[in-house]
Amino acid sequence: MSAVVESPAVAEQATGVRIRDVHKTFHRKRRPGRAALEGVSLDVEPGEFLCLLGPSGCGKSTLLSIIAGFTSADSGEVIVGGRAVTGPGHERGVLFQTPNLFPWLTTWQNVLYGPKARGVLTAEVREEAAELLETVGLADARDAYPHELSGGMRHRAAFARVLINHPGVLLMDEPFGALDAITRAGMQRFLLELWQKRRTTIVFVTHDVEEAALLGDRVCVLSAPPGGTKAVLDIGLPRPRSYDDTETLEFVQAKRRIREVLER
Ligand SMILES: Nc1ncnc2c1ncn2[C@@H]1O[C@H](COP(=O)(O)OP(=O)(O)OP(=O)(O)O)[C@@H](O)[C@H]1O
Ligand SMILES: [Mg+2]
Repeated sequence: MSAVVESPAVAEQATGVRIRDVHKTFHRKRRPGRAALEGVSLDVEPGEFLCLLGPSGCGKSTLLSIIAGFTSADSGEVIVGGRAVTGPGHERGVLFQTPNLFPWLTTWQNVLYGPKARGVLTAEVREEAAELLETVGLADARDAYPHELSGGMRHRAAFARVLINHPGVLLMDEPFGALDAITRAGMQRFLLELWQKRRTTIVFVTHDVEEAALLGDRVCVLSAPPGGTKAVLDIGLPRPRSYDDTETLEFVQAKRRIREVLER
């Protein structure tokens, strides 16, 4: 994977996310509804890297999906870049645990899908797509189909497909959860470099305390189901960060602080 290149053509406008008293209950046939979120409030600053952590079923994916506009809240509001979220939008880039590439399109076609669908597929966009594929180390795989790519390559292709849309905020739901340890460390390094260059706002869901401490400026811990905000911790470790930092005393202390909140 090559280093992330800085290009004026990809200087996104980082946007803030304001979440106010969001409630969500999933209704089920002939059974009582199941509350997923009970009064979540949170502000994510423009350019901030925020990790969302909490036990399984506490509503992390539901919250991300509400910010993305795929799911609507029962009450409360989500404001992204000053506008209330009413549905999905390309200014919010979403990456899931399983990269959702179109299997019938090549890497190149997948990356160009968004601009094409929006009718903005210019020579400049094609040039940027080529640069992005270079950046994510997939220049040689541009004509390959998703089934011909490794797990890590698919993730990087999905990244490029989202980044071409210049999202002001990246919403990531355990994106590296299914990867092996080495590929995962590579993707974390890539994401840190990318964020260091572009300062796109990131909301990153993870189960992993170490991943949260390595990546986040702050870590928001959601409580056991149904989720509410339990605590928001400032990580305070210096930037730029790298995997080597995980061996420092400060890093171990940050992990301990997160664990204490999780366990209380
Ligand atoms: N579409 C849905 N229909 C019904 N219930 C749902 C739906 N999506 C989520 N839920 C319920 O809402 C709660 C929160 O689910 P969610 O997927 O947001 O949790 P999570 O924190 O992401 O968990 P995990 O860490 O396991 O991914 C769970 O009880 C789940 O069963
Ligand atoms: Mg989830």
